[in-house]
Amino acid sequence: MKLLEKQIFLFDAFGTLFKASEIGPELQSIAGKKTDGLVRTWRRKQMEYTWLRNQINRYAPFNQVTQEALEYSMRLHGVLDERIPGILLPVFDMPSLIDGAFDLLSDLKKEGKTICILSNGTRKMLDNGIAKTGISELIDHVFSVDDIGVYKPNPSVYQMAIDAFDNAVNDFVFFSSNQWDVSGASLYGLDCVWVNQYEETKEGLPFGEVQEVAALNRVLNEE
Ligand code: LAC
Repeated sequence: MKLLEKQIFLFDAFGTLFKASEIGPELQSIAGKKTDGLVRTWRRKQMEYTWLRNQINRYAPFNQVTQEALEYSMRLHGVLDERIPGILLPVFDMPSLIDGAFDLLSDLKKEGKTICILSNGTRKMLDNGIAKTGISELIDHVFSVDDIGVYKPNPSVYQMAIDAFDNAVNDFVFFSSNQWDVSGASLYGLDCVWVNQYEETKEGLPFGEVQEVAALNRVLNEE
């Protein structure tokens, strides 16, 4: 795939450009040895609930799903301290940038590319994240699933971004570190870059046209 021949660059947000802020000592002091499990279950369930809500046609915004996933994780791990939601839920409103994100977006901007976010986050979460990470000048459009009430990897989400432009599908490229997202987007017909920045094992899922890179700062180097 010749990336610089593409015109419209779509990026997943959480986990691809944004990382939720580090879990600090306050949570450790409350949850102790259960901290890692609590956070791992929370993040896993957050995604699982979006997939299940798609299946049963019961969309709820990502901030609500995020809260419900945390409440489940607290019940599962028996850590019911009511301070925890106040510590963990705001991290999705104040992410930091993943290494290499700023330079990649800046380089693409210099090349005259159109840069978009296409995310399961609500518009408010995404606007907060863009402001907090200082990338507003680099982002041309923000597509939130909240506008259509269905989550990735449903094809209609990728369609939403395509429909906003007159360009052919071939002009787009989609970046995500989530394999389920890359599976959905590539089967929909988008050329994809799987940013395997967590060194994941390849999932047993169907994929279309996908290029793998190890990190955001490798994207243009591996042209
Ligand atoms: C996003 C997360 C779910 O869509 O990856 O931003």
